[in-house]
Amino acid sequence: MGSFGKLATRALETEVPVMVKLQELIRGAKNAISMAQGVVYWQPPKKALEKVKELVWEPSISKYGADEGMPQLREALTKKLHEENKLYNSSVMVTAGANQAFVNIVLTLCDPGDSVVMFAPYYFNSYMSFQMTGITDIIVGPSDPKKLYPDADWLEKILSETKPPPKLVNVVNPGNPSGTYIPEPLLKVSLSLSLSLHTNTQTCKNSLLCVNLPIDAGSWLVVDNTYEYFMYDGLKHSCVEGNHIVNIFSFSKAYGMMGWRVGYIAYPTDVEGFSDQLLKIQDNIPICASIISQHLALHSLEVGPEWVTNQVKDLVKNREIVLDALSPLGEDAVRGGEGAIYLWARLPTKYHDDDYAVVRWLAHKHGVVVVPGSASGCPGHLRISYGGLIEDDCKTAGGRLKKGLEELVKDGMVQ
Ligand SMILES: Cc1ncc(COP(=O)(O)O)c(C=O)c1O
Repeated sequence: MGSFGKLATRALETEVPVMVKLQELIRGAKNAISMAQGVVYWQPPKKALEKVKELVWEPSISKYGADEGMPQLREALTKKLHEENKLYNSSVMVTAGANQAFVNIVLTLCDPGDSVVMFAPYYFNSYMSFQMTGITDIIVGPSDPKKLYPDADWLEKILSETKPPPKLVNVVNPGNPSGTYIPEPLLKVSLSLSLSLHTNTQTCKNSLLCVNLPIDAGSWLVVDNTYEYFMYDGLKHSCVEGNHIVNIFSFSKAYGMMGWRVGYIAYPTDVEGFSDQLLKIQDNIPICASIISQHLALHSLEVGPEWVTNQVKDLVKNREIVLDALSPLGEDAVRGGEGAIYLWARLPTKYHDDDYAVVRWLAHKHGVVVVPGSASGCPGHLRISYGGLIEDDCKTAGGRLKKGLEELVKDGMVQ
């Protein structure tokens, strides 16, 4: 009954969410452990939860709040952006998570028919956000084969040769699905610096923002900093700011607030009309982020970033467990992992056409679920998420994954 013809092409042509497919797989594979979804195992800070518990009877909690976010929270976030991210000229809008922030930004900046740029392997939800908002010209660029850094030379060529130039360039730092960190020299160049450095190709080499972003043509760089605190081995996250740059952040992973749905946008204060247009989009999607969730976000911020880094530091052990689990694929098969909660691994060539088959086989035969690389535009790879399991469970899951991959390499997908 019914006809697809009655549904929007926009929706029909949007990918099926990989996590929805995998949740079905998890339900169907008895006792499988998930290393699929990008989650953390901790809850929000206890102190913050206790404070929020007391708030439920407060009438303002049940009302709508300001579209752009609670003033106290925005004030605290502006301070955080100054002190931690060195963003001094950005305004804040609080959203129902970073995914909604990204949709807001796409709707504010792009029109159907515009072209946009991403780098493979890309974050599947951002790709879908483009598709579902009618942006069909998604140009997917290459990453450095070893480090998975976005290819700046390719970007420069695309920006200068595509007419009209792409409207938006999207990067995730550190990356999902790879965990790759785009290092400071490649990213941390302010707008003015990038313009002045542009004449100096020597210094400029490999700097993503040094490519000639055609600012006059209205190209935007949108950086997703969801994993800003998830940095390992002494690396430090940094942000860039400018009148063609938007930064997106999330409370989900850092403060264990996935289900509370709070994220935020830092957009350039000086760009005329930005906040007015952004507000129209916000008013028609969530109106405002959940008020009680915003209170939890505020109290979590009061607990401070040290709380987060303290949680994150233990994930290094999980990363080691997963690295060992991936060893049957060979040392050269594994990439990324400097940050975020992911490792990225290449499967043997004969499985490059059907990484979903490998994922299904691992789930049913070996009881562990991971994400196929084809969901991120790179068939023949796997994304392994290690943030959602405490160390003991990670050891169990890692053991299953290692056994499965040993078998895959030696005997193939024996049922
Ligand atoms: C890069 C990236 N951006 C955004 C999100 C979504 O975050 P939120 O829960 O804040 O919507 C995720 C979640 O996995 C992510 O990995």
